[in-house]
Amino acid sequence: MAARLLDGKGIAKQIQGEIKAEVSEFVEKSGMTPCLAAVLVGDDPASQVYVRNKERACERVGVTSQLHRLSADTTEADLLALIEQLNGDSSVHGVLVQLPLPSHIAETKILDAVHPLKDVDSFHPENVGLVVQGRPRFLPCTPHGVVQILHRCGIEISGKHAVVVGRSEIVGKPLANMLVQRSSNLGPAAANATVTVCHSRTANLPVITRQADILIAAIGQAKFITADMIKPGATVIDVGINRTDDGLVGDVDFEAALEVAGAITPVPGGVGPLTIAMLLWNTLAAARMQS
Ligand code: GUN
Repeated sequence: MAARLLDGKGIAKQIQGEIKAEVSEFVEKSGMTPCLAAVLVGDDPASQVYVRNKERACERVGVTSQLHRLSADTTEADLLALIEQLNGDSSVHGVLVQLPLPSHIAETKILDAVHPLKDVDSFHPENVGLVVQGRPRFLPCTPHGVVQILHRCGIEISGKHAVVVGRSEIVGKPLANMLVQRSSNLGPAAANATVTVCHSRTANLPVITRQADILIAAIGQAKFITADMIKPGATVIDVGINRTDDGLVGDVDFEAALEVAGAITPVPGGVGPLTIAMLLWNTLAAARMQS
């Protein structure tokens, strides 16, 4: 039997509708319009698409957006100066530096420079630490999107074995941290899973992934998760977005996985749209904190 498709695009639309209503109420009460400033260095084609999508999404929910485009040869000092300027600008509530940055710029130094109250990506160590301790200021966007899909599709997390394949700072590590939290810590954002994190050096990977009630693929390799790595009936969440000759494909061999999984997210139209929805959520939260 084919797996149930988890409609990330539809859920993202629903969340954006909720955010739009909340933004409107916030603007009326505070007289402030939430504003997100995105910084794009260089001309990576995927980053250009993401940034354009972010701008459009802001417009849809009534959030003001700024795009600061810098050339690929921008110095670290010039980029830091722009971040300082945005940190000090009271009309800007969220600051996002699009990744990846050119290799001559130290990513950590730049991300650490974003003011923690404007860090809508939740990449600053202070915000990462707060998530780990179960008292988040901002939840990281893609992991939060994954948890929203699970909750809104009625997929139980509590007591389940979640296997996260991938240990990136943006997805794997923070998602594992969220899934393991007591639900009382993150509210509806996470709940009491038993979590295993696997990565490129994990031995006997299929043996571990086949134990997953919820299998999350965030390794960044096209069709890495094959049908034999999935427990029949498991929920499979595919965070991958890989550009191949066959177009955009996820980290899961989708067609084959459909026959084994109980539920699965497609690519595109699965986790991707949630990342932007949760960014808008954080931008509104940032504006509230600064009002
Ligand atoms: N590049 C890929 N994903 C992301 C993200 O979530 N935030 C930022 N800033 N850059 C990214």
